[in-house]
Amino acid sequence: MLVLRTIAETRTTCARIRLAGKTLGLVPTMGALHEGHLSLVRAAQASCDAVAVSIFVNPTQFGPKEDFASYPRTLEQDCRILEAAGVDLVFAPSVQGMYPSGASAFVEVAGLSDRLDGASRPGHFRGVATVVAKLLNIFAPERAFFGQKDAAQVAVLRKMVHDLRFAVQVEVCPIVREPDGLAMSSRNRNLSDIQRRQALILSRALLTVQRKAQGGEHESSKLLAEALGVLAGEPGAELDYCRIVDPDTLEDIPSVDRGALVAVAARVGTTRLIDNLLL
Ligand code: PAF
Repeated sequence: MLVLRTIAETRTTCARIRLAGKTLGLVPTMGALHEGHLSLVRAAQASCDAVAVSIFVNPTQFGPKEDFASYPRTLEQDCRILEAAGVDLVFAPSVQGMYPSGASAFVEVAGLSDRLDGASRPGHFRGVATVVAKLLNIFAPERAFFGQKDAAQVAVLRKMVHDLRFAVQVEVCPIVREPDGLAMSSRNRNLSDIQRRQALILSRALLTVQRKAQGGEHESSKLLAEALGVLAGEPGAELDYCRIVDPDTLEDIPSVDRGALVAVAARVGTTRLIDNLLL
């Protein structure tokens, strides 16, 4: 497995892959890998000849008071995991490489970027869209793989790829959960044992909504009331939002009749967690 640090080497390697007539799948990550990331790698391996993983804790998607400094960085361990998984190429650039001094070009997906996490984390999706645009530009992959856990990110990136006419297929893989239901996340490793138990309230609230919807309740306000009732039962989880929205526009919808995204975000201790369910 190649581990590359510079954009120039990465471009050359990707050009060689294309010249050999192979398709390339890209899995963008911020490292601290878990089974969720590996599910993206496996999906990429199933549909592409060569698979690249980028590992970059992207400063522009963190707000000034967020956890950029404390975000887990485990590059050596990540590389061991990816090598064992049969990944072809890891790209682990420096901040200076991705954001040369004086860089002032950003990608903004107007509207969508201010919804859900974008409302609570101003500038977050501008940072995500910008770094993913850079990665797509560097790799020019046939397919790029993202996790459904970041549902709002998926909507923003799909729109960016569509509007900017990137020649890439966005592939979205299902949320991978711990046996007790907690959605896998790099941030879970920051939770104490007690907080880990408190965090389960997110998936429990979503399951309640799923059961009610399957039982015939389709009105969003009633489903949300059920979810909020469950969430209120765990004072250790400080709710940020719980919404029922259109999965593409991220706008609130009155009913789940035609499909919906139920999304929740809460802070447990200092760790912000998100989870969601597609109905
Ligand atoms: O989902 C993530 O890990 C990040 O937001 C991404 C897509 C790698 C961009 O930094």
